[in-house]
Amino acid sequence: MKQSLFWLGVGLAFVVLMLVMVPGSGRPSDFSLFLGRFHPLVVHLPIGILVVAVLLEALSRMPSLRGRYDTGILALLYIGVWSSILAVAAGLYLAQGGGYAAGQLAWHKRMGVLVVLFASLAYLYKVWPGLSERWLRHWERRVYGIALGVMLLAVTLTGHFGGVLTHGPDYLSRYLPDGLRQMAGLPKKADIGRLQLENPAETTVYAALIAPILQSRCTACHGPDAQRGGLRLDTPDFITEGGDDGPPIVAGEAHESALIHRIWLPVSSDKKMPPLESPQLSIAEAELLRWWIDAGASFEELLPEVEWSPVTQTIVDHMGLGEIRTGIFALDTVPPDSMDIVQLAGLGLAVTPLAENEPYLQVRCVHPETCTDAGGLQEALRPLARNIAWLDLGRSGAGDDLVEGIADLPHVTRLHLQQTLVTDAGLADLGDLEFLEYLNLYGTAVTDSGLIHLETLPALRSIYLWQTGVTDEGVRRLQTAIPDLYINTGLSLTPVEPDTTGS
Ligand code: HEC
Repeated sequence: MKQSLFWLGVGLAFVVLMLVMVPGSGRPSDFSLFLGRFHPLVVHLPIGILVVAVLLEALSRMPSLRGRYDTGILALLYIGVWSSILAVAAGLYLAQGGGYAAGQLAWHKRMGVLVVLFASLAYLYKVWPGLSERWLRHWERRVYGIALGVMLLAVTLTGHFGGVLTHGPDYLSRYLPDGLRQMAGLPKKADIGRLQLENPAETTVYAALIAPILQSRCTACHGPDAQRGGLRLDTPDFITEGGDDGPPIVAGEAHESALIHRIWLPVSSDKKMPPLESPQLSIAEAELLRWWIDAGASFEELLPEVEWSPVTQTIVDHMGLGEIRTGIFALDTVPPDSMDIVQLAGLGLAVTPLAENEPYLQVRCVHPETCTDAGGLQEALRPLARNIAWLDLGRSGAGDDLVEGIADLPHVTRLHLQQTLVTDAGLADLGDLEFLEYLNLYGTAVTDSGLIHLETLPALRSIYLWQTGVTDEGVRRLQTAIPDLYINTGLSLTPVEPDTTGS
């Protein structure tokens, strides 16, 4: 009896010693990684054995079975204590490899140590009844019961945190039927892996696609809790700054970037990232990282601005990012009424849908002479005001009075007013068209003072000003106000001196 107490003491001291030897931040030796591999092998032993011990003890509560299993329970508790000591020791070595979420790892460790302590307590009580008589008297059965209960709880929690560490938090719920998933507040199974972005049009590629990969695969070792190799990968600044070997990313050149090199190293290499014992990147994740760096490794580029490669297009399609709706397509516009379309067509305008399954229309003046009745046209456009996206009044007799009505079409993105009677006064009405991207004023009487009204158009990307009253000065001013505007003036406005040098 004294002997078993002695050995238990040795075992406990061993665990405490291991706990004190906190894993260092350097690369662990091959030998400690080797020992760590035994953790998953050993760990199931104490779980099964200790649970059986509790079950037998519960059975012994039945009067007919009282005392029957005591020898067996004693043996089970003894093996349980020792196997849990071994499991804890191997686990500490395994943890030295790093790469586990720090918070969950800490709880897993704490619970594992609780298992050892309470299993030992239960064993001591069972093996040495004199102990309880002397120290605990009336409490004896209860203390034993509590020790077994806490031990069982600790076994369950240790197993739970261990499962989360190795298989991820959704291991158990992964195949839960959808009905139950909903009750538990989890997304539907088909939605797992799909991105749920609040506002995809204003999310950066980095935030939507790149940061989550680094977060799930790298920051356990390269983040706030640990900076292996002096490297953090959890914020743009740290990523740019780099680690002991300098910046891990060369923007635009994935093949020059250490981050990509490390990922594609063969598994036999010690420099492979993530290290072999950590969860590995999927091919899609590795490809997204490579593509992002080759495309310039921008932390600012927004999702709608991106040009996907065929492969990344496939990847983001599966994540539900295939089409990002921007501009008027992000709005909840009610589809047009067909009677209103018929009425507009009756005035000599061609009305066609802008795209399949979209509520927007393109409207074109087919017979220029029919588009002069500003009053009638405005009347017919009004019920469709929110549906008109492209409006072509080119070569018609439209004048400023009609343009005044266009100001009430909030979703116009493309407006043709070439060769019409529009003047500077008409342009004053267009200043509020927040989605207007294209404006054609070729062959009209507009001048520099008309252009001033267009300077506030937020979406304007191209404007055609050939054969108008606009001067170089006016073009320069507009270009300064909207730097990425494409301004087409047809020919250079500066007169070109004829070449008189003769040749
Ligand atoms: C289990 C821990 C662990 C994980 C997970 C991990 N690394 Fe590392 N990483 C290390 C260690 C340890 C070093 C230092 C030793 C070395 O250079 O190999 C290191 C070094 C690096 C370096 C070199 C830093 C320098 O400047 O010296 C890069 C780059 C790197 N890791 C990238 C990554 C990327 C990218 C990921 C995720 C895809 C990742 N690592 C995941 C442990 C990890």
